[in-house]
Amino acid sequence: MGTLLSSPRKPQSLLLFLLFVFPQIINASVLAIDYGADFTKVSLMKPGVPFDVVLNRDSKRKIASSVAWKGEERLFGSDAVNIAARFPSTSYSSLKFLQGTEYGTTPSQFHALIQPALDVSEVPDRKTHRFKRKDGESWTNEELVAMQFSYVKDLAEDVAGERVRDAVVTVPAYYSQFERQAVLDSLELAGLKGLALINDGTAIAINYALSRNFPTLENHIIYDAGASGVRATLVSFHTVTTVPESKSKSKSAKGSDVTHVTVLGYGYDRVASGSEMDLRLREVLQQKFETAHMRGGSLTGEHRAIAKLWKEAARAKTILSANTESRVSIESFHDDIDFRATVTRAEFEEACADLTPRFTRPIQDALTDAKLELSDITSIVLAGGASRVPLVQTAIKVTFGEDKIAHNVNADEAAVLGAAFYGASLSSRFKTKEIKIQDRHVLPEIQLSFTGETKRGKRLLNTALFPPGSKYGTKKTASYRKKDDFELSFRYQQKMGSELIPEIFDAEFYGVKAAMKNLTSRGAVEPLMKVEVGLNESGMLVIHDAWAYGEVKDESITGKIKNFFAGSSSSSASASEETEESATEVTESETPTETEEAPEPTPTTTPATVPVSHRISHKGVLPYTKKQISAARTRLIAVENAEKLRHKKEEARNMLEGYLYRMRDLLAGEPTSPFMLYSKEEERQKLEQRMSEAFALIHEGDEGELAELWRRREEMETIEKPIQFRYEENEAAPKELTNLQQAIHAGKSFLESALQNRTMEESEGLPHKYTLEELEHIKESILETEKWLQDGIEEQKKLLKNDDPVLISAEMKARGVTLQNYVMKLLKRKTPKPPAPKKEKEVPVPPTDAEEEVVADTKDESQHPIHQEL
Ligand SMILES: *[C@@H]1O[C@H](CO)[C@@H](O)[C@H](O)[C@H]1NC(C)=O
Ligand SMILES: *[C@@H]1O[C@H](CO)[C@@H](O)[C@H](O)[C@H]1NC(C)=O
Ligand SMILES: *[C@@H]1O[C@H](CO)[C@@H](O)[C@H](O)[C@H]1NC(C)=O
Repeated sequence: MGTLLSSPRKPQSLLLFLLFVFPQIINASVLAIDYGADFTKVSLMKPGVPFDVVLNRDSKRKIASSVAWKGEERLFGSDAVNIAARFPSTSYSSLKFLQGTEYGTTPSQFHALIQPALDVSEVPDRKTHRFKRKDGESWTNEELVAMQFSYVKDLAEDVAGERVRDAVVTVPAYYSQFERQAVLDSLELAGLKGLALINDGTAIAINYALSRNFPTLENHIIYDAGASGVRATLVSFHTVTTVPESKSKSKSAKGSDVTHVTVLGYGYDRVASGSEMDLRLREVLQQKFETAHMRGGSLTGEHRAIAKLWKEAARAKTILSANTESRVSIESFHDDIDFRATVTRAEFEEACADLTPRFTRPIQDALTDAKLELSDITSIVLAGGASRVPLVQTAIKVTFGEDKIAHNVNADEAAVLGAAFYGASLSSRFKTKEIKIQDRHVLPEIQLSFTGETKRGKRLLNTALFPPGSKYGTKKTASYRKKDDFELSFRYQQKMGSELIPEIFDAEFYGVKAAMKNLTSRGAVEPLMKVEVGLNESGMLVIHDAWAYGEVKDESITGKIKNFFAGSSSSSASASEETEESATEVTESETPTETEEAPEPTPTTTPATVPVSHRISHKGVLPYTKKQISAARTRLIAVENAEKLRHKKEEARNMLEGYLYRMRDLLAGEPTSPFMLYSKEEERQKLEQRMSEAFALIHEGDEGELAELWRRREEMETIEKPIQFRYEENEAAPKELTNLQQAIHAGKSFLESALQNRTMEESEGLPHKYTLEELEHIKESILETEKWLQDGIEEQKKLLKNDDPVLISAEMKARGVTLQNYVMKLLKRKTPKPPAPKKEKEVPVPPTDAEEEVVADTKDESQHPIHQEL
């Protein structure tokens, strides 16, 4: 036995399809989040950044979906998981189960089993979950999820090197309007914009299609066994080569390939899940301990022990996937008792026996849904962490045949990478491989109901709007005869035993009377109210538009001319129509309705519309209102800012502490140490005093504000700086002194030579190279510098090492450079041309060796003595 899992291969190459991604504009990152009950995977699409999953701070590819508090400190990922056993009442995980669910329902109870230490209550106005901490602070489920989104956003921003705003999040296809809304709300709370939600099975299908071509149509079932449920998505893949329109001029005669990814069927189970298996295993472990150590007692209610077992169960499940038994060893587990036990795969499988059929059932359901046979399916592609559990794999193999099983996507990362690609394809800032995705509604039929006036009084009328299998992106228009404001209700068809909240929202249309009057006053007979409703690409029901519609008299010039010839026929076409208000038709927008095609369009009328406003009142788990969003966002930002401030303070505190230790060492140094030699007794006393004050503050943990920490360090640095300076001067001054002396010497030589030349020039009647003023200036500079230096040297001699120096290296250098630059400027000057030579004397004089040498000297500055010295 002992089925060893074949390790899932990565798709051939991630780089392969990166080739299809050409950056168009920069600053265009798209974040993809695969938010699971156990782990979150994140990916970033940014031109120039390798397309991959985003790593967490410990370079892990998956991030535990947890947030926890240890006192003031907020932790995420594995840091949060690691403290869960010590702080069970402030550690939050498995929050996915509570997204958009009503308090007290099955998922709510299941979550309470997993995390019994939490103080959960109902958010009164929104019917969903809120967690209260001992300090009185409370956070809703959406807010805790938003914190995790915000955390991964920060990680992605580090990679992107810019702000990341647009995000795509994976959701199970069975997520209802409320659950989807909860995800969108969390995104908004995290400061992200939900570009779209994508069903996780579809995301995996996209990832599957990225590195493959399907010249002939293939059907695959994407089987995703996650921590929160199992889903089977039956998808057809087909790559079609479109022939370019004009063959003649296009650069390449090749057509472009479009891969169609179409969801045909779906099956799921929200109980069979990785978490349910963990729970069963936790119960096995709990029982083992109770039997061995508690003599009839129970661990239930022992939150820390239960939290430890939860972590241990997850670990054991992983080990049991590759081994037939797993050892448990937890030191000082409960009441100072160590817990040592062995749990076998057989025990685990027995505990999960009733779940086994639930793991395979969704595959059959997907086939039934798509009206296909197993033989129509090329493979069952396994994905999701729980698909590694032998119990699950064996069940699928036994039921559907080993040859159908494929491990050709990365079980953990396929969904997030597919979602990232999808996000990029939406954003129009990327050019991507062409994949056309068609997803579908898998929940019960969405119905539209309204109260109509019939002859027998008011009656609730239901109309099918989006039956299961409806395509995402579909729009439908409903037409009504209405004279006044009215209300429509949207709901899921209620199924026996289902906990799906039926009512989605009511929409109230107002200003109808005026709109109708507008049309009738323009000659319309029995205008209609039209409402356009859609199932958008995120799988959500939306009201796109509402308007009044009628055929009005054509008031345009052409209309009037037509009117004239037609002889103003206003014979009403619909005199015989019922005056009863009823839904006349619900149609796909693309195909015009019968009512829209008015009976025999007369040339005298023209269609007209008047927009009508609507208000939505949500049902079930209510979305955050704009006001609630901004209030929660303010709170979340305050937490983040406080955290940043704490981190800065921590940093400042560490810097001060480091500085204090260094200072303590300096003050305790040998009498011959530079610090001792160059510091004065009083300075050391001051430093000593400030140091012990600061140490005391830090040790008492009462260091005050961030600014106070910096101030203390700066204060000591101000005292220390002159000591440092004296030491550095002592090192630097001798060299600068020599340099300056050499500059003076070089200046003197220049002056001497220039004066000699001047005499020569005068005697030969040649023009002067330098003016007298220039030479005078050099002379004065030299004399002044020499005097300054002499005085300085005298002064300096009288000083001790720990006195502040008078002859400062920087000043010596500045003076030397000034003198040098002036001399260099003059030296570079060209020798002026002698006055026009007399005709008789035209014998060219060959240059002497000496002359050549001097020319070379002036040209090559680095060779010049002054330059060389300084
Ligand atoms: C779908 O509708 C929801 C609810 O109105 C909206 O928040 C979301 O942005 C829409 N998504 C897309 C992709 O259009
Ligand atoms: C009727 O509605 C149209 C479109 O909104 C508007 O332009 C027009 O002014 C309205 N006419 C009357 C008479 O209210
Ligand atoms: C003086 O003249 C000699 C010979 O022409 C020349 O090489 C030298 O550079 C001159 N001195 C100065 C300071 O210009």
